[in-house]
Order: sequence, then structure tokens, then C-alpha cells
Amino acid sequence: MLNNMKAAFRSTYGPPNILSIKELEKPIPKDNEVLIKVYAASVNRSDNHVLLGKPWVMRLLTGLFKPRVATTGSDFAGQIEALGKNVGVFKVGDKVMGFGGGLGIGSHAQFIVYPENKRIVLIPAHITYEQAAACLEGAYYAAVGINQLKPSAGQKALVYGATGAIGSAYVQFFKYHKVYVTAVCGGENRDLVKSWGADKIIDYKTEDFTKDTGQYDFVIDAVGKSSFAQCKRLMTDKGIYAPSDGLENLFLVPITAMWGGKRVLFPMDTKATLNFIKERIEDGSFKPVIDRTYPLDKIAEAFTYVATGQKIGNVIVTMEA
Ligand SMILES: NC(=O)c1ccc[n+]([C@@H]2O[C@H](COP(=O)([O-])OP(=O)(O)OC[C@H]3O[C@@H](n4cnc5c(N)ncnc54)[C@H](OP(=O)(O)O)[C@@H]3O)[C@@H](O)[C@H]2O)c1
Repeated sequence: MLNNMKAAFRSTYGPPNILSIKELEKPIPKDNEVLIKVYAASVNRSDNHVLLGKPWVMRLLTGLFKPRVATTGSDFAGQIEALGKNVGVFKVGDKVMGFGGGLGIGSHAQFIVYPENKRIVLIPAHITYEQAAACLEGAYYAAVGINQLKPSAGQKALVYGATGAIGSAYVQFFKYHKVYVTAVCGGENRDLVKSWGADKIIDYKTEDFTKDTGQYDFVIDAVGKSSFAQCKRLMTDKGIYAPSDGLENLFLVPITAMWGGKRVLFPMDTKATLNFIKERIEDGSFKPVIDRTYPLDKIAEAFTYVATGQKIGNVIVTMEA
């Protein structure tokens, strides 16, 4: 039916098997919104938290007893099909990609409506919708970090969890800034991570990266498995530890800033981050990494795989009918 669409649907919090594919009404854009036919979206770690409703504190924002947004999904790559009457930047037919934030916008669906003044940009001409979807959630968090760290040529960074969605983007963005990168990943992915420009590889399965003798301006934990205390000895006197996880790090940000010297920086949203990613795709310095692609009706399998914490880069879901 013309006014219906398929979407991933759940009415409660729980594991991937609570998701079903439902026929829902196609949304109608408000005055400042565009209607997007979604072709691809990522299934990521944030989506998984929203699906489970964990950590519990998240439910203050996503719905206390049941999810406020029934459809999962936080980013999208697609084509504009209709415009609200006040939309001025985009036109029908534009190919766009966007990231609505970790709490979700219901983009695991064939259509969504989205405000034209939020995080949405044109897709670079030479990439597919699937590739575009792999440039969003994880790359966004890495780009936020890079924009705040402001690295310069010749500095040194260690990226722990270099094969994840966030880590693979960090490695490439640091290399864009001509930073020396030590990447910590499974040894079997050595060649892949080297192909993104990493200068040195530490195989976390056979070596303890915290024993490395390098001194780094930036230590990035892109897998949420280390602490500032563990990584301090790897850092230069003014070195920065940038984690992707861990409530304690939020408290360490102001405390370490007061101490001076080595400090924790928890990357927070900054303006123009999607444009930074778009420019890196266009100049060839960032290549999106796709591990697996699933059709929408296999979305529960995609979530199950993401929950293993072992994906390489991104998992994509495509919305074909
Ligand atoms: N701050 C936020 O708003 C935010 C948003 C999204 C995610 N996160 C957090 O950020 C972290 C990364 O997210 P992500 O989506 O990038 O993760 P991801 O793509 O699921 O990362 C998985 C990757 O990490 C690697 N890995 C697992 N254990 C490792 C270890 N001990 N040492 C080195 N590499 C290891 C895995 O490689 P192998 O297969 O070789 O093990 C896999 O390639 C997660 O903790 C997530 O919860 C935070």
C-alpha cells in the first residue's frame, strides 16, 4: 500500500527476538521536516542499548516502562521524497545521510521524517547508501573526539579497540591529521588496520598494550575496556585520555582538568561534525568499514551480531521491500 511502510517494531524493552517487522503508516513531514526514503542504516551499540533499555538510567529519556519510539535506528542514508512547506536547504531527490543521536529516531524503517536543520548532509556522489550508512554513528563519535582533541602533525595517538566502528574512524581521522598511530586490535586484523594507515599494531590477544613503552599525546579507548589509571603511564605530561564509555570518566573530566597535566576528555557533541566526515569521504582520507549487511527482515540477527562486541567497523541493514 502506498501510504504504508515496513519498519522494525517492538512494544517493550528486551533482546533482539522481541523485534518484528510491521506495516506502519508512512510518516508525514512537518513544516521544517523532510520525508526520507531510507535505503540503509547502521545497527550499532547505541541501538542495542536502546533495544535493551540498559543501562536503566537511559530509560529516563527513552521511556520508563516501555520505549517511547517503537522503531529502532539512529542514523540513515536515503533519498528525499517530500518536503515540509518551510524547508529551504534540501530538495526532492537529494541523497542524504544523517545521525539523529544515540537515543534513536526510528530509522530502521522504509521512511522517516527528519528536521532539515539537524545533523543531515548530502551523500558524497561516489559512495553507495550502504557505505554512507557506515559513515554515521561510529564515525560521528570519532569525529566529535577529533574536533575536540585538535591533533597536529607529528603527535602520537594510541587507539585501543581500533577495529570497532568508533576505533576504525579514529585511526583514519588521526592519519588525516598526520598523527603517528599505534592501533590495538586482534592480530588477525593487522593488515586491515595497517591499510587505514596505522603505523604500529599491538595484538591485544597476545600483548598487554598498557606495557607499551611509547609516550602518547592521545590515548583513545574506543572499546570501553580500560581506565584512565591504567593508561596514565602511556601518556605524555599533557596527554589526553579520551574514553567512549564509563560513567566514572564523566567525573574525571573536571577533576583532571583542575589537577592540570594528564587529563580525561569525554568527547561531547560539537557543531559541523557530519560535514567533517563528508569532507573526509570526499578527499579519500576516510573509507567506511562494513562488516556485514542484513535485509530489514533479518534485523534481529543484525542486533544479535552487534551485541557480540566483535563486529569489524559497521553492521548495516538495508530496507528493500
Ligand atoms: N559515548 C557514546 O555515546 C557511545 C556511543 C556508542 C558506543 N559507545 C561505546 O563505545 C565503545 C565502542 O563502540 P563501537 O560501536 O565502536 O564498538 P564495536 O564496533 O562493537 O567494537 C567492537 C570491536 O572492538 C574490538 N575489541 C573487542 N575487545 C577488544 C579488546 N580487548 N582490545 C581491542 N579490541 C577489542 C573487536 O575486535 P575483536 O573481534 O578482534 O575482538 C571489535 O572489532 C563501546 O564500549 C560502546 O558501548 C559509546
